[in-house]
Amino acid sequence: MMTPSTTPHRKPLEHVTLRTAAGSRLVGAAIMSQALDDPQAASILATHFSSLTAENEMKPLLLQREKGTFTFEEADRIVDFARRHGQQVIGHTLCWHQQTPAWMFEDVQGQPLPRRDALENLRTHIHAVLRHFRGKVKGWDVVNEAVSDKSDEYLRDTPARRAIGDDYVIKAFEYAQDADPGVELYYNDYSIDYDYKRGRALRLVEELRSAGVRLDAVGIQAHHLLTSPSIEEIERGLRAFDAMGIKLMITELDVDPLPRDPAADLDPYRDGLPDAVQQQLASRYAALIRLFVRFPSIERITLWGVSDRKTWLNNFPIRGRTNHPLLWDRRYQPKPTFDAFLAALEAV
Ligand code: G3I
Repeated sequence: MMTPSTTPHRKPLEHVTLRTAAGSRLVGAAIMSQALDDPQAASILATHFSSLTAENEMKPLLLQREKGTFTFEEADRIVDFARRHGQQVIGHTLCWHQQTPAWMFEDVQGQPLPRRDALENLRTHIHAVLRHFRGKVKGWDVVNEAVSDKSDEYLRDTPARRAIGDDYVIKAFEYAQDADPGVELYYNDYSIDYDYKRGRALRLVEELRSAGVRLDAVGIQAHHLLTSPSIEEIERGLRAFDAMGIKLMITELDVDPLPRDPAADLDPYRDGLPDAVQQQLASRYAALIRLFVRFPSIERITLWGVSDRKTWLNNFPIRGRTNHPLLWDRRYQPKPTFDAFLAALEAV
């Protein structure tokens, strides 16, 4: 039987925070607006982070569930908190195959809309959203996860692609550029730094450039496991994007320490992460941050959450897990991962 963690947590000194240790790089967290009602979460956010990403509340479904009716209240709370704490806001996302209302690209029978109607829905959404957040959001993940995971397919088969065609990605960037020439425009995806998927993502960057649309950065999500992929593989990926002369952002960092086997125990570490796993997780974070900070092109490192209490990994790949992927535990105590992350940032 493994022993529960007894590692003493170093209390961070008042003046040593992630945001100061990160220097000119942004260090971000993804949050839902309800986190702002929790004084402990709000205090960590204000102290340690220089940018906030809306984990869900700027996605098409949450902003325009019904055609023509926009609901900005929850997203506005994040923007307002960020303004009060001198933080940048990252918009996530204008076009994705999940959390998007069906009416945007499909008719009531689930058939693709005519191209013209789908383009009009995309354009209207992007223009309204960028008009609302003009001057308040630093940059947008214009399109999220368009590249296919399959080696014989370039772009993922999605409602937007079925209705519009492969150029839906270019169109989304054109609409965003027209709607707010001052906002940064990003392409965001997972595993595009991995060998199996990188080629297709590099092709998309080239095609966006050839189409003459502005692409300010590529967002690399970085949802990693304890030992995979290797640091060498991630480095190969970052180098390949770097060689294209594009800015990079680590947009959704976390490290899942639980077994991915769907039949695995929902809560294998009931007494907390055993020391050995805790240290393995901290070492993994340290190695990742040490790698990222070697790339001047990486302008932002964003964690996909703050405390283990609230992470998408409590529901993936199975709902109801008790996971431990972040820097603060369920009681908002900093974990060894926090120390490792901070030390790796400070070492620059
Ligand atoms: O808000 C409803 C709530 O009213 C309802 O009672 C509850 C019941 O399940 O669901 C709530 O919505 C959930 C939503 O998160 C807000 O908590 C959805 O079910 C749930 O599917 C949704 O999950 C989000 C997921 O994207 C959707 O695919 C995660 O929080 C969010 O972390 C995750 O983020 C994605 C990025 O956008 C893109 N990259 C991958 C990343 C992880 O999947």
